[in-house]
Amino acid sequence: MTPALTLVCQMPQLADHAQRISELLNINMSKRIPDGAEFILNLDASGLSLCKPFDKSVGDLSIDFADGALTWRRQHGGGTGQAIAKAVGLKQKKQLTILDATAGTATDAFVLAALDCQVTMVERHPVVAALLADALERAELNPDVHAITQHMTLHTGSSIEYLKQCAPNSFDVVCLDPMFPHSGKQQAQVKKSMQFFRDMVGKDEDADDLLLPAIEAAKYRVVVKRPRKSPFLNNQKPTLSQEGKANRFDIYVNKGMKD
Ligand SMILES: C[S@@+](CC[C@H](N)C(=O)[O-])C[C@H]1O[C@@H](n2cnc3c(N)ncnc32)[C@H](O)[C@@H]1O
Repeated sequence: MTPALTLVCQMPQLADHAQRISELLNINMSKRIPDGAEFILNLDASGLSLCKPFDKSVGDLSIDFADGALTWRRQHGGGTGQAIAKAVGLKQKKQLTILDATAGTATDAFVLAALDCQVTMVERHPVVAALLADALERAELNPDVHAITQHMTLHTGSSIEYLKQCAPNSFDVVCLDPMFPHSGKQQAQVKKSMQFFRDMVGKDEDADDLLLPAIEAAKYRVVVKRPRKSPFLNNQKPTLSQEGKANRFDIYVNKGMKD
């Protein structure tokens, strides 16, 4: 848990909602920004966001499925031609059930849900899960994205535990995209808000432990997103790899999709 995080809410009409979030996260709630706070969670009319209130060089982190980038991608991003869509096998089979076991800010999950997949997301970082839950709640009121987010469900907790209680073939595909330690040069290239996300979430040191339970739970395949030059997850060679500009998708096939 991020140390000494406070939920700041200055709008009396949102106080009950703020109270529920602060209880869920077991953090203090305040009407003002505590002196010297490194991070705060801010709740206002545009939703929940994580901010560094005294560091204006970084933007706030919030999730909005109707934002410009995701809208552009949904409308012009290439549909089933997108790398993540090819990797999960949408060229071969439609309407896949997908477990995104490392949901994060759910860009991949949203892209797949927009392509008619049913996506179950698991996120263990309580603050990230709270941002995601808030984004899903706001999407319910937005006719542009509601039909898509209806196909997305969120579980908060460890996906290693979640996967262990899944029966074999529980999902057509399991997707994994754990945090990967980045070098200084790579770190400098990512967006400031993403750096900020990485600072908060940390490195996912136990990422290797995800692979075997994921393979057990997947009917057709497990897709692991990695930085292009990084070693295989759990040092396990995939059936095939799909190289992209920045990322590589390692694909562990359990069963062909034509069967
Ligand atoms: C790189 S981000 C995923 C980004 C995501 N693919 C997207 O499109 O936004 C990795 C996320 O996985 C979560 N995570 C890593 N290991 C996990 C685990 N064992 N259980 C649940 N969540 C996990 C981290 O907390 C982090 O939020």
